[in-house]
Amino acid sequence: MIDWNEFHEDDTATATAEAPQPAPAPQPEPKAEAPAEEVRDSAGSYQVAEQDRLARAQQSLEELDVAAGLEELEMGAKRIDVEQKRMINARADLNQLVPFKYEWAWQKYLDGSANHWMPQEVNMNADIALWKSADGLTEDERRIVERSLGYFSTADSLVANNLVLAVYRLITNPECRQYLLRQAFEEAIHTHAYQYCVESLGMDEGEVFNMYREVPSVSAKSAWSLKHTQSLARPDFHTGTPETDQELLRNLIAFYCVTEGIFFYCGFSQILSMGRRNKMTGVAEQFQYILRDESMHLNFGVDMINQIKIENPHLWTPEFQDEVTQMILEGTELEIAYARDTMPRGVLGMNAAIMEEYLHFICNRRLAQIGLKEQFPGAENPFPWMSEIIDLRKEKNFFETRVTEYQVGGALSWD
Ligand SMILES: [Fe+2]
Ligand SMILES: [Fe+2]
Repeated sequence: MIDWNEFHEDDTATATAEAPQPAPAPQPEPKAEAPAEEVRDSAGSYQVAEQDRLARAQQSLEELDVAAGLEELEMGAKRIDVEQKRMINARADLNQLVPFKYEWAWQKYLDGSANHWMPQEVNMNADIALWKSADGLTEDERRIVERSLGYFSTADSLVANNLVLAVYRLITNPECRQYLLRQAFEEAIHTHAYQYCVESLGMDEGEVFNMYREVPSVSAKSAWSLKHTQSLARPDFHTGTPETDQELLRNLIAFYCVTEGIFFYCGFSQILSMGRRNKMTGVAEQFQYILRDESMHLNFGVDMINQIKIENPHLWTPEFQDEVTQMILEGTELEIAYARDTMPRGVLGMNAAIMEEYLHFICNRRLAQIGLKEQFPGAENPFPWMSEIIDLRKEKNFFETRVTEYQVGGALSWD
């Protein structure tokens, strides 16, 4: 049992040790015959330091007009009807999480929370030894590690900033917002994971964190993502017209389908291929957890986009479908250019041509997921093991050197 009196005394001791002593207060007369269990009606013998300040606070509360405050709530302040809930432009109160309308959004929030992990749980010792040894990795393998950390260390910040500064306020549904908050924290964990890798390996952090500005194949992807967040991040941007609603859809497709759905896939498959060859297994394990989170972000984004389409079919015009298809093709081309830059020769059982087919396969998947026509019919997946990793849940991990159990608050256990 917690002894609250003990806590009280400790608090007092800390306060008196650090704060100036108040003037001694007059002691109340002790009641000689007070019953043992009498509840005190006074907090004790201390004084209020500034009576004026307290009086002003009490006065301000007296003037608080609760009814008017509730009336000013953006979406009205009455009990909500689930039918009023909508993905965008909803009129229902955004502060009432339940009743749920989009069970899939809540389920993804629960699934994401059940997969919580932290970067420090991954052992990086073997990576540090390999990275520092003169002949542990080939020049081409080192280039892949550097480029991957260079792109991803800032890409997840772009995604997080887009979520909280552009997307969040425009998605007018509390269960989706609950997932967006979870996703935003996961993006922070991903940025942390990249920083943790860079620090562990003793890499030049200025060089790594500036690749998104300084290395052309990396900066082209970052610039493309940034282009699609700019208009939504303006404080005067609002949805509610077909043009602005389509602008939001463009942003969701640019970030969920292209940035998280295409731009991550060359780097992920390169690093995970390295891990399969027992090289940089700590970095690869971090990427494995991140990929699993990212595939959930992608699926959530696809569900959001498709739900907005169902509720607003007038937005999904043939012209708009054409434009969005082109966006996804642009993203695929940028990722192919990145593959060529990071793999000037064959490395790790892959090369730029095989990666190109993989990216065509991924591009087809992204188009199909939002109901658009595949642009590379017949493209096959040359890396079926990537799908297995994405689908991993609580099974033994694919490096088979350790068991990865995902549970809230639990550290990974090591064989
Ligand atoms: Fe991420
Ligand atoms: Fe993500």
